[in-house]
Amino acid sequence: MLKPVIEPSVNAEDFAGQASWAAPSNIAIVKYWGKHGVQLPRNPSVSMTLSKALTGTRLHWRPGTGRLVAFSASGEADAQFADRVAAYLSKMALEHPALARLDFGVETENAFPHSSGIASSASGFAALALGLASAVVAESQGAEASLPEDGPAFRSFAGRLARLGSGSASRSLCGPWMAWGQTEAFADNAEKPTDDHAVPLDHVHADFSTWRDAIAIVDAGKKAVSSSAGHRLMEGNPFAETRFGNARQRTLALDRALREGDTDTFVQIAEAEALELHALMMSSKPSYILMRPGTLAVIQAVQEFRADTDLPLCFTLDAGPNVHLLYPASAAAQVEDFIHDAVRRYCDDGRVLMDAAGEGPTRLKD
Ligand code: DP6
Repeated sequence: MLKPVIEPSVNAEDFAGQASWAAPSNIAIVKYWGKHGVQLPRNPSVSMTLSKALTGTRLHWRPGTGRLVAFSASGEADAQFADRVAAYLSKMALEHPALARLDFGVETENAFPHSSGIASSASGFAALALGLASAVVAESQGAEASLPEDGPAFRSFAGRLARLGSGSASRSLCGPWMAWGQTEAFADNAEKPTDDHAVPLDHVHADFSTWRDAIAIVDAGKKAVSSSAGHRLMEGNPFAETRFGNARQRTLALDRALREGDTDTFVQIAEAEALELHALMMSSKPSYILMRPGTLAVIQAVQEFRADTDLPLCFTLDAGPNVHLLYPASAAAQVEDFIHDAVRRYCDDGRVLMDAAGEGPTRLKD
């Protein structure tokens, strides 16, 4: 089949419908690392939704055959990114007949700095999936045509589409806390966490909705090994089964800590998960290291600060060198002084992105 020509800019007049969404990134406390089948997680994961690391995406559609026909990222044509989105859209056309009858134009923009080392796949796929879910509502007849966009059925549907783009994106559909993947934890949650899509957590202690995330940008460069490659390397990792069991146990312990407001347990789980994630990378074949000297320096400074002050500041890491510093609003004044005095010196251009727990995506004016 001939590859369709993707126009490098989007002209709204060429399309019949549109929907615009802003979706946030999220930071996992229990990590998703290892997958199987069609983007299904090997273990449950739990994350805090952020509020400032947002992607805004306007999706345009017209009658067609499930192709991407026009694309711009931050007002520019980005051929590599366009190819990834085109492949995703043609997969999504197989997920729902309404999507198979449409062609798409996509305009997308990140609210966070371009080379900040912050992964945009969670916020990017969440915003795009919400646009697709809006297109399904607009273009379907029957029950789907009246799905309210602020209801759980719409969110679950969009969450499934987001997961198929990037697993962690499914956890960006609501806030401030979400869980994805089958687990015995959260038994009395209104929606049961499943492998299909993430669900918002109902019984989280109010203190945890005030938590902040200061992201110390130790290295703003592109990471050497993608998350997708990292997930694949879990097949054959000698510690894989132990790891999946640890994540299941920590999900149960985090459930209790989140509902009771137990910050000591939270801190212990967050740091154990971050270090285990990177230990898995170091024990993969081939082995790789994404931490930098600055990563370790920030980790050490955080642990010393906690020992000195008894304040519940902890760190976590994604699949990269940057350090997420997590703390409650009640400790913000002291922690932010500490970041200024003892963390910025290890960061690229002194950069630390200040973020906080958020409520999830918003539909923007079209
Ligand atoms: C370390 O969701 O980026 O951030 O499903 O292949 O797109 P794909 O992977 P992705 O993996 C995220 C891994 C992580 C941990 C987490 O967010 O749970």
